Amino acid sequence: MTAAATIPGKHALVTGGGSGVGRAIALALAAAGIGVTICGRREAELAKVAGENDRISGIAADVTDEAAMAALYERAQAARGAFDIVVANAGMAGSAPAHKTALSDWQRTLDVNLTGAFLTVKPALSGMAARKTGRIVFIASTAGLKGYAYVASYVAAKHGVIGLMRALAAETVKSGVTVNAVCPGFVETEMLEESIQRIIEKTGRSVEQARSSLASTNPQGRFIQPDEVAAAVLWLCGDAAQSITGQAISISGGETW
Ligand SMILES: NC(=O)c1ccc[n+]([C@@H]2O[C@H](COP(=O)([O-])OP(=O)(O)OC[C@H]3O[C@@H](n4cnc5c(N)ncnc54)[C@H](OP(=O)(O)O)[C@@H]3O)[C@@H](O)[C@H]2O)c1
Repeated sequence: MTAAATIPGKHALVTGGGSGVGRAIALALAAAGIGVTICGRREAELAKVAGENDRISGIAADVTDEAAMAALYERAQAARGAFDIVVANAGMAGSAPAHKTALSDWQRTLDVNLTGAFLTVKPALSGMAARKTGRIVFIASTAGLKGYAYVASYVAAKHGVIGLMRALAAETVKSGVTVNAVCPGFVETEMLEESIQRIIEKTGRSVEQARSSLASTNPQGRFIQPDEVAAAVLWLCGDAAQSITGQAISISGGETW
């Protein structure tokens, strides 16, 4: 039996659904029969993904803006029903040695990756608890499980996301809601391309050298594909994962465990 047969008729929110991992998650959920609302700041990217499956619709919103997220919830839920599934995926990463990290860059990284994740799920919590069902999935990172050099703010933010996930799992455990995180290693998306460009600019390495140095952090020696992350999210959203809550699932070719 396919997952598509198990979870039709639901409504999901996927932040950062206009590109990369979020796009793959939106397409996987839609293919499983779920209505998906995606958000991000770039309307054109949202429209492109919405054009790929008519179960997907886009609403532009910045996850760091509480009022914008409240407005998104109001509009999306009025149109298509309460969110059964919320995937907090939007994120960004810069890099600098910790002692050269400007407070503004530190703050922005925490705002988008951690506070944005909180503001993404907060409006869903009371409704899910009242309905005694719901799925919350955070797209964290192996950077939520271990340290990496030159990305202190990102590592701190993603560790924060794992803490938030654990707290919410404890808070919702009696209510039929599950709360989990998936923790990918390097995934082949725009974000990875930006990291490769930064390495080239800062070290003078070639594209091939930069790519192979990042791929070598994965013991399998490869980049994760967005569809692999989406498959784990789809499983967490299905009936078969009812007993899985409070987990940080590493999708990293064995880089962390
Ligand atoms: N790629 C990797 O190697 C990797 C590894 C581990 C974890 N992750 C995590 O996976 C998630 C998705 O990243 P990705 O690799 O798919 O990168 P990506 O293609 O750059 O996607 C990031 C998405 O987040 C959205 N976003 C960023 N800031 C936002 C904001 N303030 N409000 C609303 N949306 C915002 C972006 O849309 P707009 O620009 O239109 O707002 C974009 O669609 C992130 O949480 C990232 O940390 C990625």
